[in-house]
Amino acid sequence: MRILAIETSFDETAAAIVDDGTKVVTNVIATSKEMHEKYGGVVPEIAARQQLQSMIPVLTEALLSSKNNTVLLNSNKVFASIDAIAVTIGPGLIGSLLVGVETAKTLAFVTKKPLIPVNHVLAHMYANFIDSSFVIPGVTRNPSSSNAGSPAWAGDDKKEIQFPAISLVVSGAHTELYFMKNIKDLQWLGGTLDDAAGECFDKTARLLGFGYGGGVAIEKAAARGNIKLPRPMMDESFDFSFSGLKTAVMREWKKHLALAGSNPANAFAYEIQEAITDVLVEKTIRAAKKFNAKSILLSGGVAANTRLREKFPVAIHVPPPALCTDNAVMIAAVAYFRGNPVDWHEITAIPDLSVKY
Ligand code: KG4
Ligand code: ZN
Repeated sequence: MRILAIETSFDETAAAIVDDGTKVVTNVIATSKEMHEKYGGVVPEIAARQQLQSMIPVLTEALLSSKNNTVLLNSNKVFASIDAIAVTIGPGLIGSLLVGVETAKTLAFVTKKPLIPVNHVLAHMYANFIDSSFVIPGVTRNPSSSNAGSPAWAGDDKKEIQFPAISLVVSGAHTELYFMKNIKDLQWLGGTLDDAAGECFDKTARLLGFGYGGGVAIEKAAARGNIKLPRPMMDESFDFSFSGLKTAVMREWKKHLALAGSNPANAFAYEIQEAITDVLVEKTIRAAKKFNAKSILLSGGVAANTRLREKFPVAIHVPPPALCTDNAVMIAAVAYFRGNPVDWHEITAIPDLSVKY
């Protein structure tokens, strides 16, 4: 089954074509990140306008650049090989979401293809199934799609994803832990009560003077020093809280700046990364033990962090960095594995779409 997917929830405009939820045919992403740099964060109005400008060029490129179908757009049969269209309906910024949703609805209307609405946060975890080998009870997967000889970013050499699994989604706006009974049935275990892990990276990075694009900047700058920060909410629950850590960074940073000639930004970066990753690893492992998980899946922008991946004491599954951050491939994947087509008249953008399943 071939799905054309569209993602416009935040500051990325993305379109992709994916076969059977696992094989990438095309994957195109345009970002408005640089436009937000001077403001130190994403400006929703700018993001939405940029979505409008990028949507059609991105979609066209996704349809044109297919490896297997050299020029999909080359005839009236442009959509002939596509079985369904999938689109992110939330959560996200309303102005950004609307661009993708209305584009997808128009395509569904014109082509009469089924339209599958997708939850962006759930989609992140399905990036793990792209080109990986995994076990669906009763289904034998083609060995040619296994991940043999896969690159170093993957947790270890055992690429078989087995269920039940624990799935941690860590992005700029979300820190959510799920129990995956199988590829379809999910149970939300907990999430952040305030700031998300990525948000904490972004806000503390700005404070330290690293500017926009926090997580990557902190990872690059991190160098061991003698700064100590708290590990918030290391309790029995599967919830997270990172705003206290941000406040602690603010307080300690001011103290250190007051010391003449002291600028320990690298040591702060190191300790912020350690604190965030300690909490994420601890809670995920605890959930994995409690639910006898056979696999642990990470996803979302923060899953691109090397320190987080290496800190896990057991093998984990992580998408390649380009599929950790926002993309449309994951939208097609979740649509394939657990999506249901809905009449396009009924589909609407939902900025605060719940992630609790
Ligand atoms: O999933 P994503 O692209 O967008 C959302 O859906 O939010 O995640 C973006 C988040 C940002 O907070 C960014 O700072 C963080 O992912 N991030 C990282 C790294 N790369 C991206 N955080 C830590 N280390 C990284 N290498
Ligand atoms: Zn995301």
